Amino acid sequence: MSPTLAAAFTAQANRELATSLLYRSLAYWAELRDYNGFTQLFSDQAEEEETHAKQFFTYLTDRDCAVSIGPFESLTPAYTDLLAVSKAVHAHERANTRAIHSLYELAIAEKDFACQVFLQTYITEQVEEEAWTDSLVERVSRSACAGALYNLDRHIVKDLFGEK
Ligand SMILES: [Fe+2]
Ligand SMILES: [Fe+2]
Repeated sequence: MSPTLAAAFTAQANRELATSLLYRSLAYWAELRDYNGFTQLFSDQAEEEETHAKQFFTYLTDRDCAVSIGPFESLTPAYTDLLAVSKAVHAHERANTRAIHSLYELAIAEKDFACQVFLQTYITEQVEEEAWTDSLVERVSRSACAGALYNLDRHIVKDLFGEK
């Protein structure tokens, strides 16, 4: 793996970890406001993103590259409502899709076929991530009154991902 590609992989591994921290901060944002369903949703996502980060870091070691973690900016979410949170999450996932695509472009340019295969899972993953975050924005937009929001919060994890 070329040093350029290894550096780009390291950046993406850390981006996944930063995304995990972002979801964790949003879980606490939701918990503070007694949105139990959204707390669960964002906690689950924090764990999923940590798994992504681990897969990237492990891939680096599999390719005999050193791992470097951080730095991460401090997070104090100051969103006023769930719609702002949902839009931010959707924008974040779209940005992550662009980052994965750039990494794939680099793997093609470097003729690193193994990296290309590894990244295909993430290209597919990002389609799902954009889909659920888009659905999140739609559902929160529709829940304009307190009653609707209460019901959405109760069912949001099941609405987006089905029964576990
Ligand atoms: Fe991810
Ligand atoms: Fe994600």
